[in-house]
Amino acid sequence: MTALGIEEGVVYEMVIVTLSPDGSPHAAAIGCTFLRGDDGWRVLSKLARDSVTSANLSRRGDAVLNVVGEEVLVEAALDLGVVEMGFERIEGLEVPAIRDAVAAIPVKARFLAQDDVWHRLELRPFSVHLGRGSRRPFTRSLAALVEAAVHASRIPVFERSDPARAEELRLRVKELISLAERLGPTYRVRAICGAIRRKYGIVD
Ligand SMILES: Cc1cc2nc3c(=O)[nH]c(=O)nc-3n(C[C@H](O)[C@H](O)[C@H](O)COP(=O)(O)O)c2cc1C
Repeated sequence: MTALGIEEGVVYEMVIVTLSPDGSPHAAAIGCTFLRGDDGWRVLSKLARDSVTSANLSRRGDAVLNVVGEEVLVEAALDLGVVEMGFERIEGLEVPAIRDAVAAIPVKARFLAQDDVWHRLELRPFSVHLGRGSRRPFTRSLAALVEAAVHASRIPVFERSDPARAEELRLRVKELISLAERLGPTYRVRAICGAIRRKYGIVD
């Protein structure tokens, strides 16, 4: 973990890969807090109870955490079909990593607690694989895009129970994606923002 620059107590946004019942890999964005104890590193996370990832992990507790670039993170969270996301085998493991991830961290998951909305989990890393991917210099455009994706992923959660909250989230997403487009007007950023507008009913 130290080689990755991971520090205790910070929330890192990663992509978790799990296996669905048909054996296909499933990717989702997840916030991970790393903690160090006498018996090594552990990761605390919470997952929406109704997520595919929660269901997959309750069947089999093995998963792979991936350090990826922002566009892949957004794709894994929102399933926009814009950014290509492939998988690659890690020798000796059934769950694959994201292709060209900066790093892949195989983990064993344990459910700790639950409430109406969340499952709280502990993920125990058992190795770290450095990949071919590399991190690019920081851009506010991609930071805004990730923040937009966090809010967009909550729109369906509130759509029925609290429509006013869903509308606030739409407004937030609208502002953040126009910032992302203004500061990083690449073809890919524009394609991602267009797909977010269509998927979440955001009108200019
Ligand atoms: C940066 C980022 C971090 C996220 N972190 C979490 C998280 O910690 N827990 C969670 O349940 N959903 C999180 N989400 C939303 C999920 O990634 C998204 O709703 C998810 O893909 C749905 O889960 P599923 O595909 O397993 O059904 C995050 C989204 C983004 C963009």
